[in-house]
Amino acid sequence: LNHLLSIEGLPKAVLEHILDTASTFVSVSDREVKKVPLLRGKSVFNLFFENSTRTRTTFEIAAKRLSADVLNLDIARSSTAKGETLLDTVANLSAMHADMFVVRHSESGAPYLIAQHCAPHVHVVNAGDGRHSHPTQGLLDMYTIRHYKRDFSQLSVAIVGDIVHSRVARSDIHALSTLGVPDIRAVGPKTLVPGDLREMGVRVCHDMDEGIRGCDVVIMLRLQNERMSGALLPSSGEYFQHYGLTEERLRLAKPDVIVMHPGPINRGVEIDSTVADGPHSVILPQVSFGIAVRMAVMAILAGNEA
Ligand code: CP
Repeated sequence: LNHLLSIEGLPKAVLEHILDTASTFVSVSDREVKKVPLLRGKSVFNLFFENSTRTRTTFEIAAKRLSADVLNLDIARSSTAKGETLLDTVANLSAMHADMFVVRHSESGAPYLIAQHCAPHVHVVNAGDGRHSHPTQGLLDMYTIRHYKRDFSQLSVAIVGDIVHSRVARSDIHALSTLGVPDIRAVGPKTLVPGDLREMGVRVCHDMDEGIRGCDVVIMLRLQNERMSGALLPSSGEYFQHYGLTEERLRLAKPDVIVMHPGPINRGVEIDSTVADGPHSVILPQVSFGIAVRMAVMAILAGNEA
């Protein structure tokens, strides 16, 4: 693996290798072990052209736990504001001897463009591009599911909400499918759930109660208003009434269901606080596992696994 640009097309063995490698890093990500020297002398550049709390920070922590030097480019204060192109920015950062670019961009495909134009020794990790892909979120979601459920082969997983605009949903669906989950459901209003998901073997449900009934895992998604035109925008009160996850609705799922969310959560819009903070929620453990998973991805790309 030279770059991580998408989960789509990655074989099951590669996904499992990343998850297995991540499990070896959990003690480092938990700070039982402070650091490992696997990326010592390497420079990781975080290039976030779109906002982020979890992904940017956990990549920075992960790189530091691997002993890399980390540079967070402040895009708002960079010369992109003066008209410098993405590729010129990357060429200049490459001249500063970057070894790895972690890229988030609102345009689908931006990390691919960078990967095509950077030097052969430089690795590119997609940290979310448009509505296309968010591979490390998909991987940390799979790590979380495996941690709590052990075996993918018997699971029912419902992904609920604004699926059409969600790079997380696409990455999760590809990963769940590759790892052999037999029952993947996409739940939400007709305007926000693409019907062609059926061609990927996904069950499409427009009724929330039917969609989460008997599920082992419920993955909630926020409404990505920033990607919607006026016609698609539901009112948040109406949306919560039909698709909000409440304690009452959650009782339709299996008694040991886990509730996931990539964040940021919008309380009272797609999820009630009693569920987000409740006993079934693994939303914050997902964030913690993200450190170990991102360590694994960077170590594997650099060819320096534990
Ligand atoms: N899950 C996720 O990508 O969160 P951030 O946008 O905060 O990075």
